[in-house]
Amino acid sequence: MTVIDDIKDRLDILDVVSETVKLKKSGRTYVGFCPFHANTRTPSFVVWPESGTWKCFGACNTGGDVFTFLMKRDGLEFKDALHELGRRAGIEIVEERRPEAEIEDQHLARLREAVAAAAQWFNHLLRNNPQAKIAREHLANRGITAETIETFQLGYALESWDALQQHLLQKGFSNEELIDAGLLVQREDGRTFDRFRHRVMIPIHDGKGRPIGFGARALKKDDEPKYLNSPQTALFDKSRTLYALHAARQAIRDQKVAVIVEGYMDALAAHQHGFHNVVAALGTALTEYQFRQLQKLASKIVLALDPDTAGINAMLRGLDVARATLDREAAPIFNPRGLVGSAGKLQIDIRVLTVPEGKDPDELMQADPLAWQTLVENAPPVVPFVIDALSAGRDLNDPREKAKLSKEVLPIIRDVADPVEQAVYMQQLARRLKVDERAMFDQMRVVNQAPVKQRQRATSVPETPKRDTTDLEQYALSLLLRHPHVLNVIDETLERAELPPLNVDDFEQAAPREIFRALRVALIDDPAPTPDEVQAGMDETLYPELALLYEEGHTRPPVDRGISLEEGAKKAGLQLREKRLRREGQQLRSLLQEPVEAAALAILTQVGRDNAAALLRLQQILTTRTIARATDPWGRS
Ligand code: UTP
Ligand code: MN
Repeated sequence: MTVIDDIKDRLDILDVVSETVKLKKSGRTYVGFCPFHANTRTPSFVVWPESGTWKCFGACNTGGDVFTFLMKRDGLEFKDALHELGRRAGIEIVEERRPEAEIEDQHLARLREAVAAAAQWFNHLLRNNPQAKIAREHLANRGITAETIETFQLGYALESWDALQQHLLQKGFSNEELIDAGLLVQREDGRTFDRFRHRVMIPIHDGKGRPIGFGARALKKDDEPKYLNSPQTALFDKSRTLYALHAARQAIRDQKVAVIVEGYMDALAAHQHGFHNVVAALGTALTEYQFRQLQKLASKIVLALDPDTAGINAMLRGLDVARATLDREAAPIFNPRGLVGSAGKLQIDIRVLTVPEGKDPDELMQADPLAWQTLVENAPPVVPFVIDALSAGRDLNDPREKAKLSKEVLPIIRDVADPVEQAVYMQQLARRLKVDERAMFDQMRVVNQAPVKQRQRATSVPETPKRDTTDLEQYALSLLLRHPHVLNVIDETLERAELPPLNVDDFEQAAPREIFRALRVALIDDPAPTPDEVQAGMDETLYPELALLYEEGHTRPPVDRGISLEEGAKKAGLQLREKRLRREGQQLRSLLQEPVEAAALAILTQVGRDNAAALLRLQQILTTRTIARATDPWGRS
């Protein structure tokens, strides 16, 4: 039994939920208004105290255990939720606090002080030192004001091999600390020198506004690289940092829009011109962590990235990351015949902004700030951009290329929340591929014509939500971690059943959810991620859990002996979805046994229909795979 189970045993989920949701008892369940989506007139939020789980049947269409509830409610990472609930349950979270941990904390604090002292000195030099004239001129030529220099603590590093070193040694820092902070470079022979020389220094801050690293722009034309950045240090993790986020947070929260630009100077120019909702990537691909940070604040993300190949690739990867990891909400699905169901759509609206004439946002804003505002407001959705980007350089008369492109683009279109918009993209894609639009819709069809009554039979197996799903969740996860390529097979099978790929919502328990999320992210870069790569994407409180899952045979043996582990993994993955659909169906039926308001009844009935249809499609696919293949509109085999 893990500490997570321990906490769940001691806490009553009702206590935690009741803090923010007024619950009414209804049979064996408790019902209330969902705290996660606005203007709910119907009580769509349900808690099952016996299994310790909750679910919203309304717009969120999400649920989970007490951990996921607290994480969602308070915007916490798993670790924080674990500590908070541990505290309430009176269970001490032994955070592997080795004796060295205390020393590490002190070391971190020293590094922080060193970087702060460096930033302060660089800033002082920029403002006062005669040698900084070129730097001051560079910034002035780019229209950077004294106020911006102050706000963002811009600075200058002297053209010297040891000026910073001497300055900081004098302040009591050790060489080792300066190396660890990324300020000094150590040669193979052990000698050290200042990393940043004769550059404009741009401090990079953490979420609390403390400097943790630098971006440093060259002042001489042939000085390579143009931007020299701090290395990865104990303080500075590029994949978890967005430049200027500390200054942009409030504006993003207020406007619900975040703009991501490519360069430091672009972000600086934006803030200077009063566009405070702008952050910059750090010369690397956008990561899950960065997206999730923004999703907590914004409902719309505008990517203002270079439309060159590298920029497009970075954006596509970012989109993959977003699709694999971001929260989804239930949204209606239409086809030419009308409303046909609902599915998880990305909750966040992703847009693409391209500055005309290949200019940088920085140049545009200096020339015409209003034009920037117009570009942001009218930034087109990501899908047409992706269709263009992916069809460039391809022979779209080749049927196989058509099939490939549609396969790449359809999932992205499926994620679009607005049904009308979605239909327009379907048309665009069909036109681009010169195929019949109906064939396109068929490929994405979510229709089931069978009458509701008949479908209900398929789900009438009585089943109450039980803790034993944990078993299956851990079993499936353990196999998937060891055979990650099977996930593709599972997703393809689900796609044939018009169902979304296996995702975090297929797991009820917070820990497997987080681990699965990390697996998904690792898979974006590596089709066969190592345990280390998976581990890199999650909080360290989950490491022991992950290690257990990687251990062969810690979970109960495969139910079906005689099949390969791969087959077992596929089966378990699909069972997860099947279980989830059954569970949701059962939950709905138990709700409908109590009297409900008319409006709630309508929603619940619709959700119930979708659920039954989805389950039926999945079961049909599982039994009639060959037939489904034969009717593939692209004639693939
Ligand atoms: P660009 O090369 O587009 O530079 O790099 P820029 O922002 O237009 O720079 P200016 O306007 O000439 O000063 C965009 C971003 O890519 C990263 C930096 O984050 C930069 O802001 N980059 C670029 C590096 O990290 N290293 C480099 O050598 C170049
Ligand atoms: Mn530029």
